[in-house]
Formats: sequence, C-alpha cells, structure tokens
Amino acid sequence: MRGVPLKQHPVLAVTILALFALVAGTNGCTLFESEQVAKGRKLYRHYCMHCHGESGRQNEGFNWATMPDPRPRDLSEEAAMSTFSDEEIFHTISREMKDTTDQAVLDDEDYFAVPTMPTFKYTLSEDEIWSVVSFVRSLHGMSLSYDVDGRKKKLEEAFQVAQQEFDQATQALEAAEAKLEEAEAAAEEAEETEEDIEGDEDADLEEDEEEIVLPEEIALEEAEEKFEDEKTALENFTKRPRQGQISRPDLTVSDTERGRLEQVGKHLYENQYGCNACHSLNNQGGLVGPELDRAGFRLNEAWIYRWIMYPQGMKKKTRMPNLGINEEDAKALTLYLKTLRAPKPDDPIPPPN
Ligand code: HEC
Ligand code: HEC
Repeated sequence: MRGVPLKQHPVLAVTILALFALVAGTNGCTLFESEQVAKGRKLYRHYCMHCHGESGRQNEGFNWATMPDPRPRDLSEEAAMSTFSDEEIFHTISREMKDTTDQAVLDDEDYFAVPTMPTFKYTLSEDEIWSVVSFVRSLHGMSLSYDVDGRKKKLEEAFQVAQQEFDQATQALEAAEAKLEEAEAAAEEAEETEEDIEGDEDADLEEDEEEIVLPEEIALEEAEEKFEDEKTALENFTKRPRQGQISRPDLTVSDTERGRLEQVGKHLYENQYGCNACHSLNNQGGLVGPELDRAGFRLNEAWIYRWIMYPQGMKKKTRMPNLGINEEDAKALTLYLKTLRAPKPDDPIPPPN
C-alpha cells in the first residue's frame, strides 16, 4: 500500500509541522532553528568555539585548558546564564576593552572586566552580534527576547530625522548667506553714494570685510556631526565596521621612551587586550594564534602595528578580532612585541641584533 501524500492531507501536514516547531522551540533542536540562530551558530563556530566549546560547555574548546584565568564559564548552564539579560550578553561581546587593573573600571558594575574575553564590537556588525546572542541563548535552552527589528527601526528613524535636520540646517545657512550678501551689497552701494558726495576716492573698501561666523554655520556643523553619528550607527548595524587604510606609523622613540612604552605594551597585552588568551609566550597562554616568543625577530615593526590595529584589513577572515586598539596603544604593543626575542628551541644562543 502506498502512503498518503502529505499534500492531500492538509490537517496531518499542519499537525506534523506544529509538532516539529514545538520540539525545535523547547530544546534547541537544530532541525527547525530560526535563521537568526543559524547565522549565530556559524559565527560562533568561527569566533567563539575555540574558547567556549561547540556546545558552550566548560573545558570543551581546544583553547580552554591552556588559556590564562579567568577562563570561560559554562554557557550551557541555564541557572547561571538566565540571570543575564540579552543586553548584558550583548554588552559582554560588544564592549570597549579597558584596563582591568584600573580601580575605576573594577568599580563600574556595568563593565565586564575580563581581559581574556575579547570584544567583537569592531569585527562584527550589530545585527551579527545579536544573532550570536541568540545562538548563545539556545545553548542553555532559552531564546532571544530582545526586539532586534525594533532596534533597527529606531536606528533608521533616528537617521532619517538627522538627515532632515541636516538638510534644514543647510537651507537655513544658504538663506542666511544670501541675506548677508544682500545686506553687504546694500551697504556698499550706500558707501559708494557717500563717496560720490564726498568725493573721497581713497576710501579703503576692503577694510571692514571681516570674516563673519553665522550662527547658522555652527548649527550646520552640529547637524552634520549628528548626521554622521547616526549614519555610522545605522551602518554598523548591518555592516561590519571597516577602517580605512592604516597609515604607516612613526615608531621612532628615544631610548628612555622606548623602555617606558615597552612596559606599557606588556601591561596592555596582559591586562587590557588579553592577547595572552590566544597567544602563548614561553608555553604559557592560549593556542588560538601563533606563539609570539620570537615575534621580535620574525615580524617587521610597521607590519605588527598595522596588523594589530586592523587584522581584517590584512586577512579578511582571520579569527583574531579587531580589538579597537588606538594608535597610542598599538605603538606600545608593537614596541613590546619587538622585545620578544627568545632563542630558537634548538639554538640556545640568541643571534646578535
Ligand atoms: C579567547 C577566548 C574567548 C573567546 C574567543 C570568546 N570568549 Fe567568551 N569568554 C571568555 C572568558 C575568559 C570569559 C570570562 C569568564 C566568564 O565570566 O565566563 C568569557 C565569557 C563569556 C560570556 C559570559 C558573560 C558573562 O556575563 O559572564 C559569554 C556570553 C561569552 N563569553 C560569549 C562569547 C561569544 C559569543 C564569543 C564569540 C563571538 C566569545 N565569547 C569568544 C573567553 C573567550
Ligand atoms: C581571539 C584570539 C586572539 C586574540 C585575543 C589576539 N590574537 Fe593575535 N592572532 C590570532 C590568530 C588566530 C592569529 C593568526 C592570524 C591568521 O592567520 O588568521 C593571530 C596573529 C597575530 C600576529 C601575527 C603572528 C604571526 O606569527 O604571524 C600577531 C603579531 C598578533 N596576533 C598579535 C596579537 C596581539 C598583540 C594581541 C592583543 C592586542 C592579539 N594578537 C590578540 C588570535 C588572537
């Protein structure tokens, strides 16, 4: 006997679909996971799995055992994870990296002061980060409740308002300038008539042509700034943040300054940007990236600087996130990395500089 095709059995088909949806919704079954969760899973596998493990359990990622403390908590445990809101998880993944030995940072209850968890704020779009949060939720049997579409709408609206205000400010300035010109022309005419009467032809007309700053000019500058901010916010929602070409750095420093900056760089490496979570020195530290014991020999200064400022600019799909490092910090980090000149494992005598 042949089976009854589902097409001819609408009630049965709907029931089966509903059952699948129920199962998928309650235990994170991948069969019918939402598009958002699927997108988040893909990103998680590329950027997070080495530290957090495939299913978020402790000691599962290959980097877990070797990375320094604090090490990742168990993302699959609902009891603990449910105490965090969606926004808090988002913030953890998308924050500025700050000096985690700074008392002010430690006192800030809203700041997640863990250098060994990198930020992805400069690597992924906001939309992508929400999809990662959504996947993290599925690891402990929850689902995202944050209104991502609503957030996007708000950004779009704010952008439109800023655009309108910018247009209005441009028109207001044009009108004010036209008026000013008119007034100036009138004044000139009046002056000329005066001169005709007085016959004084040496009068210096240029004299009182002072640069006038119109209030409309200041207003336009402000409107433009706001417009650019809203534009960036909206762009960062859908597109990955991009940086322009990193210009060639000036890395010349005096010897005393060099010594100081190397120390600063070491501090940043460990306590702010958690480079040691992914890179090892002397067999200590993470294994996600290459060991850096001999970075000082192997790598060129300017190359290091450009790499740490914007790794995606040099290798689009690298697992090393852009950590939002400013020029000053990048300089200190570069000088520190140049001090890493361990001898070759099979060559105990270091070559001369
Ligand atoms: C280099 C290792 C590393 C990588 C890569 C990494 N994490 Fe983490 N993560 C950590 C560490 C360390 C912690 C801090 C210990 C803790 O509190 O769980 C942490 C904590 C977290 C937490 C718990 C936050 C809290 O409030 O306690 C979440 C959620 C998280 N990571 C998500 C992610 C996601 C998503 C990614 C990828 C986009 C990612 N992590 C990539 C190391 C990493
Ligand atoms: C989440 C892990 C991670 C973090 C955090 C991280 N890196 Fe990396 N890094 C990598 C990976 C992976 C590579 C290999 C790049 C590739 O080929 O995609 C790399 C490559 C490098 C290289 C080039 C090494 C070579 O031998 O070619 C340098 C230098 C470097 N990272 C420095 C740093 C510094 C400095 C920091 C901290 C400011 C840092 N990294 C933070 C993962 C990380």
